[in-house]
Amino acid sequence: MSDLPKINFVKPSTPAAGTVVLLGAEGAPGGEHTKSLGLGEVVKRAAGAARYKYKSMSSLDILAPSGTRLDRVLVVGLGKLADFTEQDWIRLGGAAMGVLHKGEAVTVILERPDGEPISAASAAEFALGMVLRAYAFHRYKKKDKDNGEDDKKPATVSIAFAAHKEAAALWDKQEIVAEGVLLARDLINEPANMLGPVEFAERIEALAKFGVDVEIFGEKDLQKLGMRALLGVAQGSIRPPRVAVLRWNGAGDDSAPVAFVGKGVVFDSGGISIKPAANMEDMKGDMGGAAAVTGLFRVLAGRAAKVNAVGIVGIVENMVDGNAQRPGDIVKAMSGTTIEVINTDAEGRLVLADLLHYVQEEMKPKMIVDLATLTGAIIVALGHLHAGLFTPDDKLAAALTAAGEKTGEKLWRMPLGPDYDKLIDSKFADVKNVGGRDAGSITAAQFLKRFVKKNQVWAHLDIAGTAMGSPQTEINRSWSSGFGVRLLDRLVADNYEKK
Ligand code: BES
Ligand code: MN
Ligand code: ZN
Repeated sequence: MSDLPKINFVKPSTPAAGTVVLLGAEGAPGGEHTKSLGLGEVVKRAAGAARYKYKSMSSLDILAPSGTRLDRVLVVGLGKLADFTEQDWIRLGGAAMGVLHKGEAVTVILERPDGEPISAASAAEFALGMVLRAYAFHRYKKKDKDNGEDDKKPATVSIAFAAHKEAAALWDKQEIVAEGVLLARDLINEPANMLGPVEFAERIEALAKFGVDVEIFGEKDLQKLGMRALLGVAQGSIRPPRVAVLRWNGAGDDSAPVAFVGKGVVFDSGGISIKPAANMEDMKGDMGGAAAVTGLFRVLAGRAAKVNAVGIVGIVENMVDGNAQRPGDIVKAMSGTTIEVINTDAEGRLVLADLLHYVQEEMKPKMIVDLATLTGAIIVALGHLHAGLFTPDDKLAAALTAAGEKTGEKLWRMPLGPDYDKLIDSKFADVKNVGGRDAGSITAAQFLKRFVKKNQVWAHLDIAGTAMGSPQTEINRSWSSGFGVRLLDRLVADNYEKK
């Protein structure tokens, strides 16, 4: 992974040199410290001359006045202070990082222009936004190449902040959240020739050094377990499948775990029901669910979360081959349910079917969330700004939606129901793996539900639109977003951790 910029929280004092970042809003071009730096008037005049209006997340670049040893003064806008929310701090940090250069000595004066206090938690969120924005995946580019704005970020940033000790302590934990998100982004950006099932499993095994207990199942193990739905997908690839089970027991007791299940298709060609050539390269990211689960366990272990959690990811490659699964094939899943494979491109649900069954049998979890880049149809329905949330459980839906609002990794609840379920009844088997063109994301979720036991608390997140090809935001300029890591970390922290 690219090295994270180092963030130091320091006590407010006058920066002697380099670049100063200030927060401004209309009518309030800077707080007390800005004024004591003698910069209030400078900012006011420059903003007037440039017609700068302090719009939310915008910035104004000012050459430092002569007579100081500063190089430049950057103002980042908060917009209308009445509209500014807690969720904006992370974006503001990202916006600030976006206008910084490599090699700059940077001091952020973190104070509100209206003098209202900023909590240490908000300060740590600001820092998280800075670090997430600085990420770029340039592993396969020449080092000296000009890769644009986002490859040229400062290696260290000082944040001058009143409660700097408190903020630094919180940042120690938030920095691990950044590590988890960026681990997920790295895994998703990695091309499939470099990251096959074996390599992915190795990357997961490396989490052992943080205290995650990792168990890897190979092909023989999976045959013995009877994961024939998953194996059917993998059989067209010369690269054998892996299933990784991750455990973090931080509750200090033997209470039932929360479980996270991830789709890890390292490349989805569609199989015999092959995909069109256009944009097929994006299918290297069809393991976004598994990457999010991996990143989440990095975080849970790194911040010693007081929770018992289990993760399970199915890592396969869906390829075209003489031995590939055919449309019309019937496979018997680990649960005993027979599946007619109508379309080999609806492979993610086949993988998840066996993982869901296994995790319920073996771990008796109190709650399961699965994450998968499952359907193109969810992008048609929700675009790239919300992931699809499917669950029969109103309480879990509310908890997940709230975590989404707090982290900005937003969810939108979609329906389930028996009339949708009928669409996947099969003529030849217990169930078929597609339900026709209509309501494609819902019938996919209904398929998963056939492998969830009655009374098992469960939610499915379709992250096809949010995990990759995601919109370029203040906190992400990469193709992959790492969607799900912050969402689930928040879900756990707010609902499942011992106080
Ligand atoms: N991995 C794809 C879904 C996908 C599409 C993810 C675009 C990200 C971007 C999934 O395996 C798939 O191919 N789904 C099919 C289902 C269909 C055959 C019922 C789809 O969405 O077309
Ligand atoms: Mn597919
Ligand atoms: Zn897929």
